[in-house]
Amino acid sequence: MNILVTGGAGYIGSHTCVELINSGHEIVVVDNFCNSRPEAVSRVKSIAGSDFPFYEMDVRDEEQLGRVMEEHRFDCVIHFAGLKSVGESVAKPIKYYDNNIGSTIALCKAMSKHGVARFVFSSSATVYSGGNVMPLTEDAALGCINPYGWTKLMCERILTDFAAAEDWSVALLRYFNPIGAHESGLIGEDPSDIPNNLLPYISQTAIGRLDKLHVFGDDYDTVDGTGVRDYIHVVDLAKGHVAAVGYCAEHTGVEAVNLGTGRGTSVLQLVAAFERMSGVKVAYDIAPRRAGDLAICYADPSRAQRIFGWSAEKSVDDMCADAWSWQRQNPMGYRE
Ligand code: NAD
Ligand code: UD1
Repeated sequence: MNILVTGGAGYIGSHTCVELINSGHEIVVVDNFCNSRPEAVSRVKSIAGSDFPFYEMDVRDEEQLGRVMEEHRFDCVIHFAGLKSVGESVAKPIKYYDNNIGSTIALCKAMSKHGVARFVFSSSATVYSGGNVMPLTEDAALGCINPYGWTKLMCERILTDFAAAEDWSVALLRYFNPIGAHESGLIGEDPSDIPNNLLPYISQTAIGRLDKLHVFGDDYDTVDGTGVRDYIHVVDLAKGHVAAVGYCAEHTGVEAVNLGTGRGTSVLQLVAAFERMSGVKVAYDIAPRRAGDLAICYADPSRAQRIFGWSAEKSVDDMCADAWSWQRQNPMGYRE
C-alpha cells in the first residue's frame, strides 16, 4: 500500500517506517521536527536500505498537506504526529488541543478531498478512566485527567464520527508503554528534555547524564509497592501498525484496539531487568507518588490478536537490552 506517515521522524513513527518498508509498503513521511531530528529519517533509510519522500511541514498546514496529497496517491494514513508530554499539556492546554486535534482535522479534510479512506491513529491507554478493573479491555470506561489525554479521546470521537459519515476504515490504536529501540541501536527514543517516562530516565541515569532515578512511590498495593505498567517493545508496537494497516484494507468501520503485552512490570522490576541486561547499576531513591499515576495499568491484548492476528513477542529483557544498546551507541541521542 501507499501510506502517508505523519510524525515519522519520532520515536514510534521511525520504528514503524522501518517495519512498513520491510513489509513491502511504500511510504511518504511528513514531520515538522518539533520533537525529533532529521538524523532519525536518515537512519530509517539506512536501516531499511531504501529511500522515500520526506516533507518537513506542519500537518496543520492545509495548503502544504493538499500539495502532498496531490503529488502522491495514498491508500492509508498513519497519524503519529502529536505532542505527548502530560505535564506540558497541563501548563499549555491550547498548544495541545491545537496541535493534536488541529492536525487530525486537517488530515480528515485532506483525505476526504482526495478519496483516502483508511486512517490509523496513535491513541493511548491514557483514554481509560481510573477505577477500571485490570486488564483493560477496549470496552472499559473512558475518561481523562489531563489535556493530553483529552486530545486523544477527542480525536477518537472525531474519527469515529468522520468514519461513520464517510464510510472509512479507522483503527484507534491504544498504546500501553512503548520502550526499547531497534536492535541495530541506530534509532531509539530521544527525549529533547529531561525524560518524563521511566525507561529513558533509567537509561540516561545508567549512561551518566542523570544522577539518579526517582521512584515515584513505593507504597502502592502492588508486588513491591511501586507502579506496575504494561511495557511493550517499540518494534512489536511498530509491527502492530503493519497489522492494523492490513486490517483496514479489508474492513470498514472503527475499531479501538489495545497494543500491549498483557503483562505488568513494576518500576523496581524494570530497574532490575535493565541492570541485568546492561551490567550497569542504576542509582535510585524513593520519591513521593506522582500526581495522576495509577498503581497498576495493563492491557487485555486479545482483540489485537483476534482481529489483527498480532501479538507482542519480545520480553522486558529484550526491551532493556535494546534500549541500552541505543543509549550506549548514542549517549546524547541524535545530537552528535
Ligand atoms: P514523538 O514526539 O517521538 O513523535 C511525534 C512526532 O510528531 C515528532 O517527530 C514531532 O516532531 C512530530 N510532530 C508533532 N506535531 C506535529 C505537527 N503538527 N506536524 C508535523 N509533525 C509533528 O512521539 P512518539 O512517542 O513517537 O509518539 C507518537 C504518537 O503516539 C503521538 O501521537 C503520541 O501522543 C502517541 N503515544 C505515544 C506514547 C508513548 O509512550 N511514546 C504512548 C501513547 C501514545
Ligand atoms: C505516562 C503518562 C501517560 C502517557 C504515557 C506515555 C502520566 C501521569 N502519565 O504514563 O499519560 O500516555 O506516559 O507517554 O504522566 N516512574 C518513576 N520515575 C520516573 C518516571 C516514572 O518512578 O522518573 C514510574 C511512574 O510512577 C509509573 C511508571 O514509572 O509507575 C511508568 O511511568 P511512565 O513511563 O511515565 O508511564 P505512565 O505513567 O504509564
